[in-house]
Parts: sequence; structure tokens; C-alpha cells
Amino acid sequence: MYGNDFPGADEGSATGLLDQVEAAEADLRAAAVRGLAASGSPGADSDLQEYFDAVIGADQKIEPRDWMPDSYRKTLIRQIAQHAHSEIIGMQPEGNWISRAPSLKRKAILLAKVQDEAGHGLYLYAAAETLGVTRDELVDLLFEGRQKYSSIFNYPTLTWADVGAIGWLVDGAAIVNQVPLCRCSYGPYARAMIRVCKEESFHQRQGYEILHTLSHGTPAQKAMAQDAIDRWWYPSLAMFGPPDADSTHSAQSMAWKIKRFSNDELRQRFVDMCVQQAEILGLGLPDPELRWNEQRQAHDFTQPDYTELMRVISGDGPCNRQRMDHRRRAHAEGAWVREAAAAYAAKQAARAEVAA
Ligand code: 3HC
Repeated sequence: MYGNDFPGADEGSATGLLDQVEAAEADLRAAAVRGLAASGSPGADSDLQEYFDAVIGADQKIEPRDWMPDSYRKTLIRQIAQHAHSEIIGMQPEGNWISRAPSLKRKAILLAKVQDEAGHGLYLYAAAETLGVTRDELVDLLFEGRQKYSSIFNYPTLTWADVGAIGWLVDGAAIVNQVPLCRCSYGPYARAMIRVCKEESFHQRQGYEILHTLSHGTPAQKAMAQDAIDRWWYPSLAMFGPPDADSTHSAQSMAWKIKRFSNDELRQRFVDMCVQQAEILGLGLPDPELRWNEQRQAHDFTQPDYTELMRVISGDGPCNRQRMDHRRRAHAEGAWVREAAAAYAAKQAARAEVAA
């Protein structure tokens, strides 16, 4: 057993997370072949809403060309854009350690990881664009404070062990949240998530391996690893969002099969997964109430501070200001790259037209 290669309980199966991603990939292929033969396709007289409901009911994919309710489209744009922004802003806390990684090997691995996050942002912005918005519009909404990014990236990375804790806990939480999104009802989002999850799995392992190395090193290294886990544990639990009773969107998103599990269900799954992994690391989780509940067949644990989550989401976390300032600056400094790429694309298109 290593990292997330543990027997899980997703949808009753005893497979690892990567196996679940494979299964989602197979589902997508099967759905493409199957079509919607049973429900027929909407003709001029068909009720579009009925057809949409039938597609969702039959566990098929909604594709960009399909009719969809406006509120479904808006929910997807909100969630996918927030997810894309999170991937891009999420490059900052770890990017902070690229120049200070303890060895060339660690530096190369971290560089590759941070680059992967940029790629994830790209796939996700592209998935959002299939819903009729442009990437520029989404970036503007972020800058105007009208779209969010994940609370977790507003915490500072104080030591090298934080890079390990982010990999193990933050990427671990991201995987638990995102593997079910491989089965999301919107095709482009589901397909993007398959690749994202495969890469996140590597990220999670590299973090786990950093912590494993530190926890088997000197007493000072072990203490540094423990300190990082102590600081990242509750913010990682908060990543799953408010408790179900306070979640605005969960019920509707689950009915549309955008979300497959509620915030609390996924948080519980994450806790259950981490307990065993922490034992193997030889490190503790900072919760005196954490214990196995035989009756529930799950761990009891202390909930994160949701008042703090709301404060961080609304812009008052330890690093919100710094993260947004940095993002705005990087965007402005990258203007010439976007202009050059657009000019090059226009030139290529003009050449292709002449040749045709
Ligand atoms: N950070 C910031 N905002 C959050 C949040 C968090 N951790 N959790 C919830 N919220 C916001 C919601 O966006 C919503 O605000 P809005 O109505 O203004 O949009 C509000 O709090 C209420 O929450 P809900 O539970 O009703 O919202 P959702 O149903 O959308 O569930 C979610 C929240 C579970 C985060 C869901 O949107 C989701 O699964 N998103 C996709 C995954 C994602 O975005 N992950 C972000 C991390 S990416 C990452 O980790 C990168 C990796 O490299 C580490």
C-alpha cells in the first residue's frame, strides 16, 4: 500500500482510485457507443427538458451541442471556472519552493508538478469555454472578485515539509473530490477530470514520499513534517466545502449528476483514507477526537472551523491578498505572450486560407 493505492469503498467497489478513474474512462467510451437509443432523440416536437432529463437519468453525457437548462450551464461554468482558477492560483504556494528545493531531483519533480497544475488549469478553462464563455471573461470575473478559487491556496508554505503536506493532504483531498467528477454528467468536464486525476495521483505520491523521507530522517526533520501536517490538516478538510446542511448547490448538483457525492460524504472518505496513511508515515493527525466508530464503520473526527472557511472564501485568509496581487501581476506581464500567440495564430490561419 502506498499513497492513495488503498482499497477504497467508492460505490461499493474494493478498487483503488486509479482503478476508479479507469472505470470512468470505460463508462465514457461505453456511453459514446450506446447513444440514447432508448430515449430517442429530440425532434421538432420533443420536449427538450424531457430529453435532457432522460440523458441524465440514463447516466449519459451532456455534450456542448446539446440543449441544457440555463441553470445547469451556469452551475457548470461556476464550478469549472472556480476549479480552473484554483489550479492556476494553486501554483503559487509550491512555486515558492522551486528555487529552494533541497536537491536537484526534488527541484525537477516540483517543477514538473507545478507545470502540471498549469496544464490542469488549461484543460479546465477549455472545458468551461465549451459552455459559451471565453477564458478572458472568466479571468476578468476572478479579478473582479465575482468568481472564487479554493480556500486552501490562501495558506502560506512555511517550510519544505509543507510541499510534502500539500502533496499528501491537499492533492489527496483533491483526488477524493475529483475522482467522482470523472463521472460528471457534462462530457468535457468528465473527460478533463480523467487526465487531471491521473496526474494528481502522481502529485499525491510525491508529497507522501517527501513526508516519508522526512519522518524517517533526523528528529528535526520528523518534527518539521509533523508541524506541516498539523497546519494543513484542518484547511484540507475544509476544502470539501461547507457541511451538507449549509451547502447551497449540492442537492441540485447531485440531481444533475455533476456532483456524485455530498461534501460531507467526501470529507469522511478522506479522513478514513488518511488515518491509515498517517500510521504508515509514523506521523499523527492533529485531532484528539479521531477514532474508529464501529457502528458507523467510519472514523469520528473534529470538523474544521467553518467560520474560518467562510472568512477565507470571502477574501480574509492569511494570503488572499498576496495570491490575487501575484495573479494580477503575472497576467499583466504575460500580455505580450498572449498578443504574440494571437498574432501567430492569425498569420497561420491567413496562410491556410491562401493555400486552400
Ligand atoms: N473554497 C472556496 N469556495 C468554496 C469552497 C472552498 N473550499 N467550498 C465551497 N465553496 C463555495 C462554493 O463555490 C459556493 O460559493 P458560490 O455559490 O459563490 O459559488 C459556496 O462556497 C457554497 O458551497 P457549496 O457546497 O454549495 O458549493 P459546491 O456545490 O460547488 O461544492 C466544491 C464546492 C466541493 C468545492 C465543488 O465546487 C467542487 O467539487 N468543485 C470542483 C473541485 C474544485 O474546484 N477543487 C478546488 C481545488 S483544486 C485543487 O485542489 C488543485 C490541486 O492541484 C490541488
